[in-house]
Amino acid sequence: MSVSDDGEDIVSVEDLSVTYRSVYGPIKALGGINLKVKRGESVSIVGESGSGKSTLGLATVHLLPQNASYTGGRLMLDGKDVATMHGRELMAMRGNTAFMIFQDPLNTLNPVSRIDAQMLEAVRSRAKHDNTSFNQEEALKEAVQKLEDVRMPDPASIIRRYPHQLSGGQIQRVVIAMGLLMRPKLMIADEPTSALDVTVQAQVLKLLRELQREYNMSIIFITHDINVAYGISDRIVVMYAGEVVESGPSDKMTKNAQHPYAQALIKSVPTTTKKQGRLTAISGSPPNMLNPPSGCRFHPRCPYVMNVCTTTSPKETIKDGDAVRCWLYG
Ligand SMILES: Nc1ncnc2c1ncn2[C@@H]1O[C@H](COP(=O)(O)OP(=O)(O)OP(=O)(O)O)[C@@H](O)[C@H]1O
Ligand SMILES: [Mg+2]
Repeated sequence: MSVSDDGEDIVSVEDLSVTYRSVYGPIKALGGINLKVKRGESVSIVGESGSGKSTLGLATVHLLPQNASYTGGRLMLDGKDVATMHGRELMAMRGNTAFMIFQDPLNTLNPVSRIDAQMLEAVRSRAKHDNTSFNQEEALKEAVQKLEDVRMPDPASIIRRYPHQLSGGQIQRVVIAMGLLMRPKLMIADEPTSALDVTVQAQVLKLLRELQREYNMSIIFITHDINVAYGISDRIVVMYAGEVVESGPSDKMTKNAQHPYAQALIKSVPTTTKKQGRLTAISGSPPNMLNPPSGCRFHPRCPYVMNVCTTTSPKETIKDGDAVRCWLYG
């Protein structure tokens, strides 16, 4: 699928590769990735551990670790080529265009600074970026308002605390509120609820979905759990071994996935969306990314494997509105 920039897309990725240098040799964590996220759209990235979900999230905001490089293709964020950004442009992009929420939100906050100070700093940085004046009293009001927007109980008291005086769910809400202060066009959330207990998880997911609509933000949501993806996203992108194997509308992906890996992923988790037979584990193990299988990377685990799959990597084809990368449809 060719990706064009028609101004409608906040994220537009074309044939992207990212490679890590390691003592054992290069690890091509992403290869031939095509992806579009429209303005105001929520897209989930789903896949097993090591499939490249976090790498894709980090690449989107140019936060890749030192030993990683963009090795091919193009990643446009709000119409700008991310790989070529540096210095001030990069700082301005993070926060003002895209804001990333991590699994462990404590790392985003400064442990020795009160929440109010950190939120005021976010407003100050935005004012600097927008070349507008900064008024402490108004900024504080806005910060409290954002804490109310993230349904934080008693925000006036919470804002005077230090991070260690808050629960995990409260911290994640503070981080989201700080993100909202920056008025980003895109929020990227990398497993933002996996460190929280199930009830709080559900509350934070519901909150993100509501905020996405209230603020007309785009969301890239990274998760292992296809049920979570279904609940929060308009579209689901399934990754396997550094490649997108299928993407399509959430409803269709959960009820009628085409790619054998996407089908297996759905069969391997209990679902609340349809009647389902026995749950089955995906046989075999994820590939060694230092030496991935030739041809289709899923072929050693695929129940429908054909000769061509072992030698030649399938191209992306459009099947019933889904983009699928599989010889069964090629
Ligand atoms: N800093 C790094 N140095 C070398 N290799 C890395 C580094 N970070 C990730 N990788 C490798 O890149 C591949 C993709 O990793 P990534 O963290 O993007 O996967 P993931 O889908 O987010 O997994 P998880 O679900 O466990 O978070 C893996 O093979 C991983 O071992
Ligand atoms: Mg990850």
